[in-house]
Amino acid sequence: MQNNHSNLPEFYIGIMSGTSLDGIDAVLAGFSDNKYEVVSYANLDFDTELKDVLLELQNVSENEIHKAQLAANNLAIHYAELVSILLEKSGIAKDKVKAIGSHGQTIRHQPKKNDVKNAYTLQLQNPSLLAELTGINVIANFREADIAAGGQGAPLVPAFHADYFKHVLAEYTKIVVCNIGGMSNITILSQDKPVMGMDCGAGNVLLDSWIKHSLNKDFDENGSWAKQGQLNSDLLTIMLNNEYFKQSLPKSTGRELFNLEFIINSLNSLKISTKLNIQPEDVQTTLVHLTAKSIAQDIYKYADCKNDDKKLLAVCGGGAKNNFILETLAYYLADYKVCTTSELGLDTQNVEALAFAWLAKQYIENKPSNLPDITGAKKYKILGSLYKS
Ligand SMILES: Nc1ncnc2c1ncn2[C@@H]1O[C@H](COP(=O)(O)OP(=O)(O)OP(=O)(O)O)[C@@H](O)[C@H]1O
Ligand SMILES: [Mg+2]
Repeated sequence: MQNNHSNLPEFYIGIMSGTSLDGIDAVLAGFSDNKYEVVSYANLDFDTELKDVLLELQNVSENEIHKAQLAANNLAIHYAELVSILLEKSGIAKDKVKAIGSHGQTIRHQPKKNDVKNAYTLQLQNPSLLAELTGINVIANFREADIAAGGQGAPLVPAFHADYFKHVLAEYTKIVVCNIGGMSNITILSQDKPVMGMDCGAGNVLLDSWIKHSLNKDFDENGSWAKQGQLNSDLLTIMLNNEYFKQSLPKSTGRELFNLEFIINSLNSLKISTKLNIQPEDVQTTLVHLTAKSIAQDIYKYADCKNDDKKLLAVCGGGAKNNFILETLAYYLADYKVCTTSELGLDTQNVEALAFAWLAKQYIENKPSNLPDITGAKKYKILGSLYKS
């Protein structure tokens, strides 16, 4: 395919494989001084073997250093395949791409406030191999510098959300961009206040875990199974009582907390009579409410709205494809217009990958991209490290 992109003089690639372990999203984006856009995008599912080992690596297991290194190589091969698809689809030569911003696969996330000795986050990948296979420079390890400066290393997307969606503030006085991936995170944009952001809690990861456990399916297509159940308020209350939902900012989370064990423990805390009556689909319904209500709680706590604010919630990530999540968000956030980022011109599946293309550009241009108010870092940092092709 040959396209004319002469109005976009610079190109970057962004690659994201998130906590849901559903696969990899990638974009090739073109940037000019005053605008940028996705030129081509591609997605690749993990094969079962890679998904299984990445899942296994989320917890302590035997010989994990060896398994992790092999998985990192395998990830680089998958990422390189996506890069060649992007170049082919766009008709752009690889020497026109300044850098690839590659997030890697999170296998541990252990930020610790004011405890640099014990804080770390680990995004598995082999950026040197990716640079070698593609012939393009790679920027990776985006979270490390923020953690080293005492931050959570997450969420990193708010600076990008603020930049990309700033034009929408001409129409709305309050915009919340909400990514519902494995976890959920929000960015709050206001006409007159600094950008705010945080991880709200679980996004899809509990929904995926429960349907896998109950029906051996990878995910609940459009929330159709959850729609068949009933909300169990006792279970929702138990889950919302978790410390994470009371934690002050900054806060970020991962599979260490939100996993199948979290659901089973919550079920075990129910009164015996309730526990005997609850159906598996009721648990799924309740998990959708947990995702939506935990997001709504943080929005009401931190968005600091005035009565006359014109409010918009723009949802992206896989959760935006689940109509039942969108309906439940609209129920808890009745004063917001709820839409998806696709309605604002950026496909819901491309937002995170575009963020990493943007973060790579920030690195190349020597610009910081963490927001210390959000991550808790002591200072602004240039995020990432360079692996030369
Ligand atoms: N059609 C759909 N219906 C319901 N849920 C969907 C649908 N498509 C995707 N999902 C959900 O979205 C998840 C993937 O979302 P996404 O790719 O945004 O998450 P991720 O890779 O974990 O990213 P991150 O955590 O970094 O934001 C799937 O695991 C699934 O639960
Ligand atoms: Mg994904």
